[in-house]
Amino acid sequence: MAKIEGFRVKNFKALKEITLGRLWNLQDEQPLTSMTAVIGKNGVGKSTLFDAFGFLADCLRSGVEEACYSRGRGGFRSILSQGQTGPIEFEVYYKEDGNARPITYELAISLDQTDRPFVLKERLRQRRKNQKHGWPFSFLVLNSGSGVAWKGDQYGTRIDESKDELDLVKLMESIRSGKDCEESKETEIVELEDKRKLGIATLGSLKQHPRISAFRRFIEGWYLSYFTPDAARSLPMAGPQKHLNIHGDNLGNVVQFIEREHPERFKNILKRIAEKIPGVEKIDTEKTNDGRLLLRFNDQGFKDPFFAQNMSDGTLKVFAYLLLLEDPSPPPFLCIEEPENGIYHKLLESLAAEFREHATGRKGGSQVFVTTHQPYFIDGLNPDEVWILEKGKDGFSQIRRASKIPSIKHLVEEGLPLGGLWYSDYLNLR
Ligand SMILES: Nc1ncnc2c1ncn2[C@@H]1O[C@H](COP(=O)(O)OP(=O)(O)OP(=O)(O)O)[C@@H](O)[C@H]1O
Ligand SMILES: [Mg+2]
Repeated sequence: MAKIEGFRVKNFKALKEITLGRLWNLQDEQPLTSMTAVIGKNGVGKSTLFDAFGFLADCLRSGVEEACYSRGRGGFRSILSQGQTGPIEFEVYYKEDGNARPITYELAISLDQTDRPFVLKERLRQRRKNQKHGWPFSFLVLNSGSGVAWKGDQYGTRIDESKDELDLVKLMESIRSGKDCEESKETEIVELEDKRKLGIATLGSLKQHPRISAFRRFIEGWYLSYFTPDAARSLPMAGPQKHLNIHGDNLGNVVQFIEREHPERFKNILKRIAEKIPGVEKIDTEKTNDGRLLLRFNDQGFKDPFFAQNMSDGTLKVFAYLLLLEDPSPPPFLCIEEPENGIYHKLLESLAAEFREHATGRKGGSQVFVTTHQPYFIDGLNPDEVWILEKGKDGFSQIRRASKIPSIKHLVEEGLPLGGLWYSDYLNLR
């Protein structure tokens, strides 16, 4: 399963410049783990980091202008780090699977003369087959919607960013004039009609660009949970659906699907939910006369079932998470903000263990990324899996990996749980 090994954000709200894990030019860093938890006090940028992933996914889906305004972001100027003038930048370093050559995606967004956001720069890079070291080759180079894409999975150009920027216009001219050189192999000149749409959105639907398509599919597959118990109480039209949507308002539809297609998995979910939430014995669905779907919970000790509308927030949430974890074709990347809200603290520990097992288990589940302030959630995690966000003196966020704090490594090795150390303020710099 694909995995993000590193992520860099620049000029996005409180994240003026932060890097997590390994990048193509930071090869000495340890890659991100399959399970990652980001902790931090209020206002340090946890939701912002979660939204950085969401923003990137929205840019792909609907273009950068719409993404700047969606989910209450308020436009480019309000998401640009205050006082900064440069573009907003993202970098994703990821592997399609364990043995694949890592791919780097870089995106820079800026404002044009009419004050509208547009895609200033897009790059995709990858080393060649059998190339173990050295600079990767860029196989998508777009500046303001025009540039070059290399077909297949081998060719590209080297851009030595430490010297200067690639002369893209010159390269395009030499390709147009049919000059035969290493760099002009398998090339395609790209002129995008709309500078607000990502190049990977367009090129990623073409067969001749397998690497771009794979990356596009990867981002499209991310699941960022905006689950709210109230959404799960809505009454959707009946009809089985394969995946839970981001708000969770199709919970009943997913139950219909999994009950029918994967009865064993469903039994397993019910067993696990019964262990976690005392009393819940059976969950199923009922269709109303007007074709809507009711989610029905049989509670021990009561003759009649309760419907989702009357079930507790925590029950609905735990049930939704378990359904997510049992998805027969799980998303490659699962991002959840503060899963602890509304959940009993002891249960949280076991939920954290479930997430971790899902992420690291042999079944090949999703890479899991959570933001939290709950000590119980990180008690079972190791220092490589935990990142601490803090506000720097300049007001912008800084991030550190718990394993990079020598005293923490020691204390954990001596058997102290990370959550306890977080609770007792050992993880904060200031
Ligand atoms: N454009 C911006 N430039 C710089 N900082 C910003 C910008 N917009 C918002 N902020 C700051 O970002 C901070 C981080 O907010 P965020 O919601 O990510 O924190 P959080 O860690 O999720 O906090 P909580 O635990 O309370 O949910 C805010 O306190 C705000 O000061
Ligand atoms: Mg928050």
